[in-house]
Amino acid sequence: MSQAQQAEHAQTLIEVRGLGKMFTLHNQGGIRLPVLQSVDFEAARGECLVLSGRSGTGKSTLLRCLYGNYLATKGSIRLRDTSAEGAPWVELTNAPEQRVLRLRRDVIGYVSQFLRAIPRVGALDVVAEPLQQRGVDRNVARARAAALLERLNLPRRLWELPPATFSGGEQQRVNIARGLIGGHPILLLDEPTASLDADNRAVVIALIREALAEGRCLIGIFHDEAVRDAVATRLLPLQPATAIA
Ligand SMILES: Nc1ncnc2c1ncn2[C@@H]1O[C@H](COP(=O)(O)OP(=O)(O)O)[C@@H](O)[C@H]1O
Ligand SMILES: [Mg+2]
Repeated sequence: MSQAQQAEHAQTLIEVRGLGKMFTLHNQGGIRLPVLQSVDFEAARGECLVLSGRSGTGKSTLLRCLYGNYLATKGSIRLRDTSAEGAPWVELTNAPEQRVLRLRRDVIGYVSQFLRAIPRVGALDVVAEPLQQRGVDRNVARARAAALLERLNLPRRLWELPPATFSGGEQQRVNIARGLIGGHPILLLDEPTASLDADNRAVVIALIREALAEGRCLIGIFHDEAVRDAVATRLLPLQPATAIA
């Protein structure tokens, strides 16, 4: 590997400093619930950072903040906009909505714990959509989607059906394929293997390793210890939040 390639490979893609998230429960008399306090980390290409900590420590909340779904209460989340000339840093916490949408299309993907079914759209198109949004021809995107669904052992007879009535494990595989297909340099994964059998867990582990070898950066929550050990390059332990700051 040349020095330039090494530098490219080690490129930091996300940097989080002093991140805090407090929920204010407006319909509960304005009770304030601190969840994240002073979260600091960065992650580079080829890294798989695994969030650990007990249920309720804010792992999913952190992923939602990183995706710009939840607004951070404190601190900074900087992403490298790899789709722009010179890959400039963008501060996500105050980026305009249009910029956030563009970052989600090109830079940061998110596999939520449960698939949000799109009414009347078949599985193959649900998976192909993120690639089409990036300007790839529908047939090419559908062919890539088919290859992913094939690897994830989703029965062919389901491909043209809307996933709303699929089993938990089938929906999860559609969700994973949809997350991986776009080629986002940063991918957030919220327990993507919770409903999968051992064979399909192994497929997901292989797909994650391939994504890392391509120089993508993953940040995830993995309930299953075997999966975690197979993919993690680093752990980020989250502590339960203490007193109201
Ligand atoms: N939208 C929300 N409004 C209020 N409280 C929330 C919201 N989302 C999460 N929480 C609270 O934040 C805490 C952390 O939740 P979560 O991030 O889902 O934890 P984990 O993924 O680590 O199990 C929980 O106490 C949860 O009730
Ligand atoms: Mg969670």
